[in-house]
Amino acid sequence: MQDNSNENSIYSLKKKPTVFKDENTLSLIYVPSSLPGREEELKKLINLFKNIFSEDVSPLRLITISGPTGSGKTVLAKRFGQQLENQYKLRDFLFIYINCRVYKSPFLIMSTLVRRLDKTILLRGYSSKELIHLLVRLLELHKLKILLVIDEIDYLISRRGIDLVYSLLKINKMTKNQWISYIFIERNLKFIEHFNNKTKKKFLSNHISLNHYSKNELRDIINSRAEIAIRSYCFSSEIAEVIADLTSKSGKASFAIEILWGAGRCADYYNMSPIKPHHVREAKGLILAETEEEKLLAFTLHHNLILLGIIRELKRRDTDYIIDSEIFELYKSICEEFNVSSEYAETIWESVFELSNRDLITTKIEEDIETGGKERLISLFKPEIEELESLIIEIIERKKKFSINHETL
Ligand SMILES: Nc1ncnc2c1ncn2[C@@H]1O[C@H](COP(=O)(O)OP(=O)(O)OP(=O)(O)O)[C@@H](O)[C@H]1O
Ligand SMILES: [Mg+2]
Repeated sequence: MQDNSNENSIYSLKKKPTVFKDENTLSLIYVPSSLPGREEELKKLINLFKNIFSEDVSPLRLITISGPTGSGKTVLAKRFGQQLENQYKLRDFLFIYINCRVYKSPFLIMSTLVRRLDKTILLRGYSSKELIHLLVRLLELHKLKILLVIDEIDYLISRRGIDLVYSLLKINKMTKNQWISYIFIERNLKFIEHFNNKTKKKFLSNHISLNHYSKNELRDIINSRAEIAIRSYCFSSEIAEVIADLTSKSGKASFAIEILWGAGRCADYYNMSPIKPHHVREAKGLILAETEEEKLLAFTLHHNLILLGIIRELKRRDTDYIIDSEIFELYKSICEEFNVSSEYAETIWESVFELSNRDLITTKIEEDIETGGKERLISLFKPEIEELESLIIEIIERKKKFSINHETL
């Protein structure tokens, strides 16, 4: 065997020192083994699945998890799935996670499921309905039990309707001894309004609602994540405290973890360890995932009025997109509502462009089916429309007050 210890030591000399022990564990898709602040919810899930493998208990579990962004919905479901997988390793059990933003159509979802059960099957020519029957046959053939997590379900329903969900829920009636249980995840439970009363009741009967994290919970999350991600001598509890302070208003674990990562990067950049509070503050300034409030405050009153116009129209029509030519009229009616004189159309178009650049709205060009011409469609970057609406109204009122005071000075 070749001895390359010399080579390794030269390499380690060249390597830049870093505060990170394992930077990957700060990625947003990493699933940690402990979830501070979500122990109760994890216990609830474990309880719901107790006895699921015994013959005399109905195996169908239909669980919904809701909560604002960064409240740990996805990580909770994934951690629970991993635990079940470890526990039932020898029992033909599969945990499958599907995010509807990634797998955007019923066909993609169904084909992904079938593929997880049998990688050799060629799926060309099947419809998503036929794939359901294929899935049932494979469940029977391989004698499998499945926990299926469908994340961001609203994304699928708003684009492709509810048929796939109904079909999935029927699977258990089509099999004798095998089963699929479900966890549906969405920021709010509005999606259940699309279903009949019987299904709605099922969705509501095992519902876990998550809230924003408190400052103490954020501090615990940061401490436990730093333990696996950062070298112990580069981190102190003071850093967790500062991060919790800076992020408690948003209540988002994702924001806190991103700041920890950014602070580590800053310390590395300046070749300094341990991480210091000023690295945290610098990271916060650099990280784009600032709180929604800060982002909106940085815009002018008129940007906020435009956004409110878009939100109101999306809500009124219950759609995801509006055409950009509608924006100016919507903006003018919001100006009237708030008694603010409107700006010229050209200025408003510039503002729309800025809102898109700063990821508050998204735009895409599509062909108008009726006229054959192209049109620009505008949507909100974040789907939490209710939260955003009340925040914007609050900010508009504040900005109006400020501009009135300013004029009278
Ligand atoms: N209790 C927790 N302990 C440790 N890490 C957590 C906890 N809650 C959330 N996180 C981490 O915070 C980040 C965001 O969590 P997650 O993706 O689960 O949020 P979410 O509620 O699904 O948000 P979204 O609505 O945007 O999808 C992830 O990196 C996750 O690992
Ligand atoms: Mg999520």
